[in-house]
Amino acid sequence: MCGWDGHRGWIYYLGVDNDFRRWGVGRKLIWHCEDWLGQFGAPKVQLMVRSENEAAARFYEKIGYEEDSFRFFYRRTATKRHREQQSEAP
Ligand SMILES: CC(C)(COP(=O)(O)OP(=O)(O)OC[C@H]1O[C@@H](n2cnc3c(N)ncnc32)[C@H](O)[C@@H]1OP(=O)(O)O)[C@@H](O)C(=O)NCCC(=O)NCCS
Repeated sequence: MCGWDGHRGWIYYLGVDNDFRRWGVGRKLIWHCEDWLGQFGAPKVQLMVRSENEAAARFYEKIGYEEDSFRFFYRRTATKRHREQQSEAP
């Protein structure tokens, strides 16, 4: 799955069936995403890899992706009511 946020292209959830790995399918899917993002003039394509997923990191490096240094923050989606309970609402 890939998406354009108006600033960068993103790739999510790349996966190839176990029986068809190492046949060039992953690379082709990435190329397809890059081509699709090309129509928006995306200057950069980014993706996230879990730190323990060394195999995926090796794959991305092999197909020319470079590792960057970001800190990644998240929290579970909070409703206004939940934020108010946490005294965070403005
Ligand atoms: C990562 C994944 C998508 C790769 O798909 P794939 O179809 O096997 O990859 P390709 O056959 O297109 O490989 C492209 C190149 O990467 C290399 N490569 C692929 N997996 C590799 C691995 N685990 N370690 C080292 N190199 C790897 C291939 O050897 C190939 O190199 P080559 O150009 O010298 O032939 C697949 O292994 C997968 O679905 N993994 C589980 C899901 C996952 O972790 N997805 C990533 C989430 S961020």
